[in-house]
Amino acid sequence: LKRVNDARTIWRMTQDDNAISVLGLGAMGSALAAAQLDAGRTTTVWNRSPARAEPLVARGATFATDPQAAIEASPLSVVCVVDNDAVRTLLEQAGAAPSGRVVVNLTNGTPGQARTLAAWVEQQGAAYIDGGIMAVPPMIGAPGASVFYSGSADAFATHRATLEAFGAASYVGEDPGAAAVWDLALLSGMYGMFAGVLHAVALARSQGISATELMPPLQAWLTAMEATLPQFAEQVETDQHSTASPLAMQAQGFVNLIEASREGGVRPDLLAPTGALLHEAVAAGHGDHGISSAVALLNDPT
Ligand SMILES: NC(=O)c1ccc[n+]([C@@H]2O[C@H](COP(=O)([O-])OP(=O)(O)OC[C@H]3O[C@@H](n4cnc5c(N)ncnc54)[C@H](OP(=O)(O)O)[C@@H]3O)[C@@H](O)[C@H]2O)c1
Repeated sequence: LKRVNDARTIWRMTQDDNAISVLGLGAMGSALAAAQLDAGRTTTVWNRSPARAEPLVARGATFATDPQAAIEASPLSVVCVVDNDAVRTLLEQAGAAPSGRVVVNLTNGTPGQARTLAAWVEQQGAAYIDGGIMAVPPMIGAPGASVFYSGSADAFATHRATLEAFGAASYVGEDPGAAAVWDLALLSGMYGMFAGVLHAVALARSQGISATELMPPLQAWLTAMEATLPQFAEQVETDQHSTASPLAMQAQGFVNLIEASREGGVRPDLLAPTGALLHEAVAAGHGDHGISSAVALLNDPT
């Protein structure tokens, strides 16, 4: 492994406004660095455990032995590690290196964590961009990958082309917390779907229907429901909720869903809170409204 710990040496080696450093070479960071190598960019990499850099160095990346050398090597550094505490620690290890440079943090975190980190990074004289990756590592650099970005608009405009090597880049505003909001909202929808699918498969299997048999009609049903989402959004924003499928009826159907789960010995844990919310919405006067009326109860949990 070729190691360089003298930042000036790396800078002399790169001297390239499009150079990029990637800090954190787990499954995701390695994919991010590989996408930059694929795009032909001068790429410096750092990871706490150096062995993970070897495949990237074999492809032409330069290994920096510490975060300081890595960040000094390029105008733009992408950080992707386990959590934002680790991000803060490695940026502290970088000393004054971030000053005058751009830090893009693609580590998953909360909007509040992003805002705190942004304020701290900016105090060090660097520009901060936060990002939320909507992809798994094999998708990086391929069609279908997208990343939300927020924070410094100038830095994003300057480095947009470089960042687009990861996937489609969506800039969602100067609030550094915005990318995490969009990321976590989309993940919420995904986990809601998986919670439903987990329960559906367990319920079907409890009655002798295999996951393989269930999946085609389940997929068709979810696709039909997915097509109603634009109407759902309109109903939330106008507070005019469809009466085609009233909550009073849905709440009653939900009782059967929970009861059938118990009959089959299936834990109702994942869906029971949704049933409780529907009953609460009916009690709050939404019995004639559709399911979109329940959003208001979540926004006002008192
Ligand atoms: N994988 C995905 O599908 C996916 C999708 C979207 C977003 N993400 C996000 O990407 C980020 C990284 O995920 P990953 O899949 O690459 O995870 P991973 O494969 O588990 O890698 C974790 C990385 O964090 C580093 N790390 C852990 N603790 C550290 C510390 N205290 N100081 C410095 N580095 C530390 C590890 O270094 P060592 O090698 O030294 O342990 C490793 O490089 C996470 O925020 C994750 O939510 C992942």
